[in-house]
This record gives sequence, C-alpha cells and structure tokens, in this order.
Amino acid sequence: MGIKKNILPIASDHGGFLLKSYLIEKLYSANYEVKDYGTFSEESVDYPDFIHPLAKAVDEGEYQRGIIMCGSGNGAQMTANKYFNVRAGLCCNVEQVKLIRMHNNANIISLAGRFVPFEEAWKMVQIFLNTPFDGGRHQLRVEKISQLLR
Ligand code: RB5
Repeated sequence: MGIKKNILPIASDHGGFLLKSYLIEKLYSANYEVKDYGTFSEESVDYPDFIHPLAKAVDEGEYQRGIIMCGSGNGAQMTANKYFNVRAGLCCNVEQVKLIRMHNNANIISLAGRFVPFEEAWKMVQIFLNTPFDGGRHQLRVEKISQLLR
C-alpha cells in the first residue's frame, strides 16, 4: 500500500460537506493532492460511514495526516479516535490547532462545519499541516494515551 506522503485524505458528513468542498478547493489551489472520502452532497448521512474509512487508512499508515469534519466536529472526532494509531483533535481556533500538533502530535484534525468560519478553517488546516510536534516531555504523554487501565 505504501505511505501516500503528499496526499491528504478528507471526509465529512452532510454537516461538514460545504466546508469540505471549500477546503478541497483551497488545498488544490495550494498544490496539495486530495483524496475525498465523501460525503458528496448535503443529503443526510451517518458520519461514521465516511470517517471510519479515512481513520482506518491513517491508522494503517496509508496517510500521515487527515482532515475530518461534521456539523459539530464531535462525532467525527469520536469516530476517528477509536483507532489505535489515530490522535484526532477537535479545534475551533488556530491556537488549539498549534497545540494539537505541538503537544499531542495529532495526525487528524476535526472541524465543526456548522460553527467555524470557512476562512478561519483554512488557516487552521494550514497550521495543522505545517506545525511540528514538540516532542520532549510531550512524547511520553502521547505514548501514555494508549496505555489503558484494565
Ligand atoms: C448531523 O446533524 C450532526 O449530528 C453531525 O454532523 C455531527 O455534528 C455529529 O457529531
């Protein structure tokens, strides 16, 4: 399968469809290659049906980063975080985006299609794609996320 380093997967339900369409245009304009996992209209759908395939692909190392959204961003984030190697962060502003990269090494950003202004969302995506992980004291903390108490 191989890592598609320069391809960005993106997925949404109907609540995130308009934002997804906007972001895809912006990503194309910025010369990113995009894999659109749907949905493909504003018709009502179930967000897990579109988020699971993207999150599974990130979990399996097919992509380094992914972008997901639904109306609130919550259902999409909750679905993605079921996968062991996924760290999906829900963000409402650029400061939160910096922190999910620098502190949490998030590999998926979740956005609220019904609450975040589209231009702000584009700024957030660019910061998500260009901010490195700080490592250091955050490395062990990120590793501990997967260490469930039984
Ligand atoms: C759809 O109405 C809405 O529930 C969905 O987009 C999302 O907000 C779920 O978390």
